[in-house]
Amino acid sequence: MTYATTVRLALAAAVAALVATTGCRLDARDDYLGDKDPKQFNLGHTASPAEIAAVNIDVSPDGAGLPAGSGTPEQGAAVFAGACASCHGANGEGKPPAYPQLIGGPKTFDFASDYKIPRTIGNYWPYATTLYDYIRRAMPLTAPGSLTSEQTYAVTAYLLQREGIIPANTTLDAKALAAIQMPAKSHFVLDDRRGSIGGKNVR
Ligand code: HEC
Repeated sequence: MTYATTVRLALAAAVAALVATTGCRLDARDDYLGDKDPKQFNLGHTASPAEIAAVNIDVSPDGAGLPAGSGTPEQGAAVFAGACASCHGANGEGKPPAYPQLIGGPKTFDFASDYKIPRTIGNYWPYATTLYDYIRRAMPLTAPGSLTSEQTYAVTAYLLQREGIIPANTTLDAKALAAIQMPAKSHFVLDDRRGSIGGKNVR
């Protein structure tokens, strides 16, 4: 085989490879819709009102979205012992490093000078309403959504009472929860950027 033939064969092989590759790409592009939206992907189904209601549970800082019902610290102590203490400790002291301390932190906001200061309900949460929201949507970690509204009011009341924020004889309901002034509130500012709650034009 002459040198020229070898080069020609090599070129032919390269061109064939190129055509094959490009051919593949062109084939794939036949299905590619570019900017056009497909009518459907055949995934999922239309959410039913019940399915939407099950996840539409957000509570705003001002208390909008809080459900009916109520609970006391005493009732909440039982909820805490049964559903929370295994991770957060019998007294909400946490189990580092995985499970955060919830109550009993130092009454300081000087987290900048010592990042190890535990951020707890008493020294870091700006709203009691969003504490309710968090517990309802996220806790217990292994079974979020399993607490009733009453149990959530009760365990929220228990934690707030243990932090010295409400007296033991308080019954928490939507109105009482929204009226609580949290110790850390003054350390937070409302987000006033466009589109935020403070910026008003939230859709
Ligand atoms: C299986 C373990 C587990 C159980 C049970 C559990 N938690 Fe938690 N909890 C966690 C973990 C882990 C976090 C941290 C989650 C994160 O930072 O994303 C957390 C975070 C929290 C926080 C936020 C702490 C903060 O300030 O950032 C609260 C409040 C809380 N849990 C309350 C509860 C309550 C009330 C219960 C019982 C109803 C409960 N948890 C049950 C594991 C658990």
